[in-house]
Amino acid sequence: MDFSDSFLQELADRNDIVDVVGSYVSLTYKGGSYWACCPFHNEKTPSFHCDKDKQFYHCFGCGKGGSVINFIMEIENLSFPDAVEFLARRAGMEMPNDGDRAQRDRRARLLDLNRDAARFFYAALSAPGGRAAQDYMVRREIGPVTAKNFGLGFAPDSFYALTDAMREKGYQDFELVDAGLANPNQRGKGVHDVFRNRLMFPVIDVRGNVIGFSGRILGEGEPKYLNSRETLVFSKSRNLFALNLAKKSKNGYILLTEGNIDVVSLHQAGFDSAVASLGTSLTPEQARLISRYTDEVVIAYDNDAAGQKAAQRAIGIFQPLDLKVRVLQMEGAKDPDEFIKANGRDAFANLLSASENHIEYRLATVAGKHDLGTAEGKVAYLKEAAGVIAELYSPVEREVYGMRVAEKAGVDKAVVADEVQRARSIRAKAARRQAERSVVRDVRASVQPKDRALRYENTRSALAEEGVIRLLCVDATLLDACDLTSEDFSSPMLGRLYGMLREKAKEHAALSPAVLSGSFSPEEVAQITTLRSRPEPADDPGRRKALADYIGIIRAERDKRTVEDLRAYAEIIRNKKGYGG
Ligand code: CTP
Ligand code: MN
Repeated sequence: MDFSDSFLQELADRNDIVDVVGSYVSLTYKGGSYWACCPFHNEKTPSFHCDKDKQFYHCFGCGKGGSVINFIMEIENLSFPDAVEFLARRAGMEMPNDGDRAQRDRRARLLDLNRDAARFFYAALSAPGGRAAQDYMVRREIGPVTAKNFGLGFAPDSFYALTDAMREKGYQDFELVDAGLANPNQRGKGVHDVFRNRLMFPVIDVRGNVIGFSGRILGEGEPKYLNSRETLVFSKSRNLFALNLAKKSKNGYILLTEGNIDVVSLHQAGFDSAVASLGTSLTPEQARLISRYTDEVVIAYDNDAAGQKAAQRAIGIFQPLDLKVRVLQMEGAKDPDEFIKANGRDAFANLLSASENHIEYRLATVAGKHDLGTAEGKVAYLKEAAGVIAELYSPVEREVYGMRVAEKAGVDKAVVADEVQRARSIRAKAARRQAERSVVRDVRASVQPKDRALRYENTRSALAEEGVIRLLCVDATLLDACDLTSEDFSSPMLGRLYGMLREKAKEHAALSPAVLSGSFSPEEVAQITTLRSRPEPADDPGRRKALADYIGIIRAERDKRTVEDLRAYAEIIRNKKGYGG
């Protein structure tokens, strides 16, 4: 939906960028800006900064930047409307009315109830009655910081603890039932708690809503996990436990596990991209959800027959999504939690890097894709398997696995060796080209937008156009000295921005970063933020001189363009008339 400029502006006013960013990273004030290590790429010295006056953030390292809305889109991985809603909620603002009000209200009410229930469980965990759960957490080595991160709680051993507390907050019995938190009593009236005497894991969606719960029994017993039933706001097959945290990880892969305890334990050990499906085997919806946040999945299912079978199934579900899939093999431990407790985090990290070329698994997966009964199937299998083997560094390994593939396809091992050799030389060539490209890229990157689609066609003109924009942003009165039109700009994006600046100046309004986020793509906003971060003269005469220079360059380049356009036009005419050749 479209939000009005005034709504976006109010949203930004009520969500100061320094406050919002400061709740994700710790900012240090220095030289007029607030600095931090960039949350969007790995770095040791801060190149990420927030400008309180201009209300934007920008990273000199990775080029990300924009308004507070762009920041939330980036860090919470949300779409524009969802980020707007996120910030509106943070500031206690009403969203502009959209769609079915009644339905929205019911959803909102259930989400409120879930959040209140989560708070109740959370408080119950540290209350004296939460002793059993605390002891259980000690036994499972779940620390207080981790518990807080996940919002873990305790459902007291009572049929009415939650129900009573929620009634007191004004919720009705039917709402508790609708939320899956209570069941109607068999006889007579009233309802009773669904979750009793369990360690509670709130399930939080990627927008930060508490949508349901998983309750684990304290110790042995059945069922081990009790999950919220399907409700208006909760669907097991479309959500993953801890994706709200994992989506913020810088790992570049998502670790898929079976159990909530595995997830908690992995996060505690620093593997903060772990998620678990909610008691269902992996669904295509969950796989698609994962693919929105990463292009690589590491499956870390339990080390029993059922777990391994589920892993093979999951590979099949990921197949159509063009994700890189690895499977972790844990020797001597039943699951990631047990493995980490027995062997430590470093051992788990080693396991992760070993799975990088977990060759047998990958070959089996390749074999599963092709019908080896047919000639075409065999050829396709050989080619793909050779590609996998070609990645192996050791010649001995290449030989051994090459033999296996030959046997499986029923061909001579020399045939496979040939195919592997071919794949290796293709890889080597691609790597060389990649290296050459990255050198060229480094040279260009200093002036060009990070986003490919925004590449400037005429760099000389575009840099001058950036200069004009930068100057007008700091001092709108300079517009009097600027008679350019949007059409004079070589970059359509900058031309559009210039047009908007002119419009706003007429209305005596400023073009704030928040308003920009409503009209430009995140990549464009990042580019605009970057260009605004470059220095310009601080005094008026200096600025006017710079502006005149920029205008001169833009005009000269435009005239050149016109001449070129005329030439091209003449060429077309010539060809049409058959004079060309
Ligand atoms: N499960 C479930 N609901 C969840 C999470 C898991 O029903 N929200 C089920 C899974 O379908 C699987 C099993 O519980 O069958 C996972 O068990 P496990 O990996 O052992 O769970 P953990 O949390 O790791 O528990 P623990 O290690 O303490 O046994
Ligand atoms: Mn487990």
